[in-house]
Amino acid sequence: MQFQTKWVPEMKIEREQALLMHRQRFGRAGKIFAAPARVNLIGEHTDYTGGFVMPMAIDFKTVAVVSAREDGRAVFYSANYNEDVELEIDSLERAPGGGWSDYPVGVVWSLRQEGVAVGGFNLSLTGDVPLGAGLSSSASVEVVTAMALLSHAGMDLPLERVATLCRRAENEYVGAKSGIMDQFASAGCVANRMMLLDCRSLAYEQLPLPVAERVVICNSMVKHAVATGEYGDRSSEVEAGQAVLQRERPGVKLLRDATLEDLEACRDLMSAASFKRCRHVITENRRVMEARKALLAGDMDRFGALMVEAHVSFRDDFAASCEEVDVLVAIAMQQEECFGARITGGGFGGCTVNVVRAEAAERFVATVRREYSGKTGIDADCFVCKPADGAFALAKNDGGY
Ligand code: GLA
Repeated sequence: MQFQTKWVPEMKIEREQALLMHRQRFGRAGKIFAAPARVNLIGEHTDYTGGFVMPMAIDFKTVAVVSAREDGRAVFYSANYNEDVELEIDSLERAPGGGWSDYPVGVVWSLRQEGVAVGGFNLSLTGDVPLGAGLSSSASVEVVTAMALLSHAGMDLPLERVATLCRRAENEYVGAKSGIMDQFASAGCVANRMMLLDCRSLAYEQLPLPVAERVVICNSMVKHAVATGEYGDRSSEVEAGQAVLQRERPGVKLLRDATLEDLEACRDLMSAASFKRCRHVITENRRVMEARKALLAGDMDRFGALMVEAHVSFRDDFAASCEEVDVLVAIAMQQEECFGARITGGGFGGCTVNVVRAEAAERFVATVRREYSGKTGIDADCFVCKPADGAFALAKNDGGY
């Protein structure tokens, strides 16, 4: 894919600091890249059964600087963890250690599975994506690493392959189950647009968010980790239900193809949990397509109502919300400037996503923080966001690296 190369004036200092840190550490000048986090507006737990999602990139990112080395080794440095990890590329095997470096190392492993010859390199990483908040810090690390190493190898791959190989790093190297949404969004989103992604065909469409609206993210501060069991439990329940539908209903290749009637016909053949999880996914796919229509018609009331329906389905059928997040959604929905609110990401904590009138966004944040802290004793981090660009190379202001 042709990653954009651009000069970002707001990142001038970040860029200089990251390049300087790399030079001081490795004695070499490097090239610099950035990949954003994402928030999903609607379409949760639909991606790994070929369904629809509607994420947008946000203004938190992971930044990577890469330079060459001649000894065939890969040296990773994380500024956030202040730690180095080093390995010999040719003897790289699948051996996750359970730490931050599994993500970038997994990408090297995955690139090699794709037949990309990765020569020795130094890679330093730094970033401001909140960890464990359901905003895809891991996908931003994977995508920025893939981008930096493809550039280092003098190669270019289409967006679909970049996202797929990053997902593979996460699934097969790190050992965390996930769909394709996060990697695809981090690599392929564009500013001022939400992405409607068909996770089966990987066809996508960029949809406008009305300029009068803002997306506000509220972090419940309840930690979530995709690598822990809960995400895996839910995806296994979905996949078990999908397997029954595939067996029993001709034409159902993926859960995405099933209707509620198909599901009802198979109710007694699956666990009660699988039935409810699949019902969430089937209704959620419909809601995403309805949300697309609402957006195109500029009907934000309808869009917001669909978000709330999605939250209820996620809470009741998918059983993957939590008390604090439900409190955040309830507070949000009492504010007249808020069109819709729901949990976003893998679930079991993390953040809510809210669509709010732009001019009232700051007031909304102040109210939510005050009431949430009053009810739970927790201070929520809230961010007013606009849809940002997906991954890019950070140019100098003269257009060069
Ligand atoms: C996590 C996964 C995604 C997706 C969401 C839930 O973010 O990484 O692939 O499944 O959860 O929609």
